[in-house]
Amino acid sequence: MTTPDPAGFLHTTRTSYDAIAEGYASWTRDELAAKPLERGLLTAFAELVARVARVAKDGGGGLPLADVGCGTGRVTGFLHGLGLGLDVFGIDLAPQMLAEARKDHPGLRFDEGSMLALDLPDASLGGLLAWYSTIHVPDEELPRVFAEFRRVLAPGGYVQLGFQVGDEPLRLTEALGQEISLVFHRRQPERVAELLRDAGLEVVSRVWRERETDGPFPERAPQGFVLARRPVVSGGCEDGDISTTD
Ligand SMILES: C[S@@+](CC[C@H](N)C(=O)[O-])C[C@H]1O[C@@H](n2cnc3c(N)ncnc32)[C@H](O)[C@@H]1O
Repeated sequence: MTTPDPAGFLHTTRTSYDAIAEGYASWTRDELAAKPLERGLLTAFAELVARVARVAKDGGGGLPLADVGCGTGRVTGFLHGLGLGLDVFGIDLAPQMLAEARKDHPGLRFDEGSMLALDLPDASLGGLLAWYSTIHVPDEELPRVFAEFRRVLAPGGYVQLGFQVGDEPLRLTEALGQEISLVFHRRQPERVAELLRDAGLEVVSRVWRERETDGPFPERAPQGFVLARRPVVSGGCEDGDISTTD
């Protein structure tokens, strides 16, 4: 599916990540191993998704978990490797990032697509991860992305976001030895939570952490993580209800 891109940001994001795909894969391959807090957040998210997706009850994969903006698939692979039986797959805009993901994780599924118009049926996901991928979506397009996240999540399904915290965007014209044109939209967790609520999602947690300045992955900004879920209609049973509370 081709997403209209009048402002051109999808094109520049795609070509920039295609240019740095190989370097990005080797640079970030061991990043999660160095970040226990992130592993903890992702593991908690995966456990919540496994519960609502009824993985255990069905004995199968249950409703899938999509890693949207999966890049080279390092987090998709981490979620799969938790051994919770999740049916995890990745979606990304950049074909070369997907090529790296398929090389690193040959057993997993990776599809090309854009978070502005996901090629997924309504209420089809138990969980959606957007780990440092909404950072390339301009503010004016974010409500559309969050509406799309709500549409594809089943009632009770969770969405987890990770992003850099700040008020001003960072623009990079060079990275990993390549010429690029990337805008990193930094945001405040409170603002992200507000937009998720506006899209009809319930905010479960907001985490803010200081930036790390030492170690192998020094950061330019503090980091934010927001977890939300699509509400389950109370007092009744919405079609496709996957709540564990009934
Ligand atoms: C900073 S990387 C993060 C990749 C991965 N989540 C990780 O943590 O390693 C951002 C990724 O988001 C993807 N991306 C940006 N905008 C997107 C969009 N509109 N739809 C799908 N993917 C997008 C980029 O192609 C890139 O692979």
